[in-house]
Amino acid sequence: MSLLITNIKQLIQVHEYNTTIVMGSDMKNLPIIENAYLYIENDTIIEFGDMKDCEGFDAETTIDASGKLVLPSWCDSHTHIVYAGDRTSEFVDRINGLSYADIANKGGGILNSAKKLQDTSEDVLFEQSLKRLNELIAMGTGAVEIKTGYGLTVEAELKMLRVIKRLKQESLAVIIPTLLAAHAIPEAYKNNKQDYIHYITEELIPKAAELNITNYIDVFCEDGYFDINDTDAILKAGKTYNLQPKIHVNQFNILGGIALGVKHNALSVDHLEELNDDDIKALKGSGTMPVALPGCSYFLSIPYTQGRKIIDSGLPLAIATDYNPGSAPSGNMNFVVGAACVKLKLTPEEAINAATINGAYAMGISNMYGSITRGKKANLIITKPMNHYSEIPYAFAHNPIDQVIINGQLL
Ligand code: NIG
Ligand code: FE
Repeated sequence: MSLLITNIKQLIQVHEYNTTIVMGSDMKNLPIIENAYLYIENDTIIEFGDMKDCEGFDAETTIDASGKLVLPSWCDSHTHIVYAGDRTSEFVDRINGLSYADIANKGGGILNSAKKLQDTSEDVLFEQSLKRLNELIAMGTGAVEIKTGYGLTVEAELKMLRVIKRLKQESLAVIIPTLLAAHAIPEAYKNNKQDYIHYITEELIPKAAELNITNYIDVFCEDGYFDINDTDAILKAGKTYNLQPKIHVNQFNILGGIALGVKHNALSVDHLEELNDDDIKALKGSGTMPVALPGCSYFLSIPYTQGRKIIDSGLPLAIATDYNPGSAPSGNMNFVVGAACVKLKLTPEEAINAATINGAYAMGISNMYGSITRGKKANLIITKPMNHYSEIPYAFAHNPIDQVIINGQLL
């Protein structure tokens, strides 16, 4: 199978050598080729360059991309798309004045989603999740991390993992599963948190690891959820099963979760709506990617992550949707790229780097995804006609996607 894309107005995020992360002032650079071609065989990018050098390709399919841009598919490194039903009524409660914490305290929030998920059959859960997955692929996402965490029991967490496995089998998109082992404390353990932590470390993690579906572990490190000591214990238990941390930290409060994540060699620390200088210091020189989730800030009306400050400190930054029923019910990476510019004060170049190569890094797949590089997988967006990639964040809430290619296949 071979595919040639010709007359590309701008071929974006072109790297001659296998770049796997961009950080600090390098994030301002977004290498492009104007008037370009791209040649794909099977699922792999084979060749690209100036249109005037496009000769000798005998492709089965040719796409004329005149007036359009081509870039790597979005890499959404933080989602919770396997959930049952929705939480529209809590959305209305918040409009009427309740906070996210108020709703959680009266048994809503994550506990509400857990109840719904426990009461939903595996097949129905799969169908609901597949629909969300296909929607986000149509919006340009080609690689997506999916967390568990709405189970809260071994049985329901394993159900979530099996659903994620089925999504992986069903979909061409790359799916990276994460065991969100500690997302909330169930009602039955309310006055007995240590017993629940014991249940997570001694039963949930070992049984989940047995399925061999995930390489990553997550904890919601936050007041009212899991504190630093809890998080430390859970990450240690994960480590014995080779699960690398990707954790929820600093969403509402700074507990020291960033330094803890770095200590445990976390691949990413996500949210960071609250952030201090010690957090930035902890991240310096580490291999841990800070991940901002502007859709969550928008939806909950909480501060936006200081993306500008993170990048100006010389650090890398990734951006993701956090697609979930409670704090960010949207999987639209185009919106996230726009919000990163408007609210996090990233330039379009930085936002696109954050949503492609650095998002791929935050899933441990940037050796094969996230840039236009010979040998990397052909997961691509072909945009609607436009003059410049800055129009993607500029025309906020528009859909810039014309076609998507995943694993070399035009969808
Ligand atoms: O990333 N913060 C924790 N987890 C999710 C939200 C969970 C929910 O409200 O269902 C998040 O925001
Ligand atoms: Fe999240």
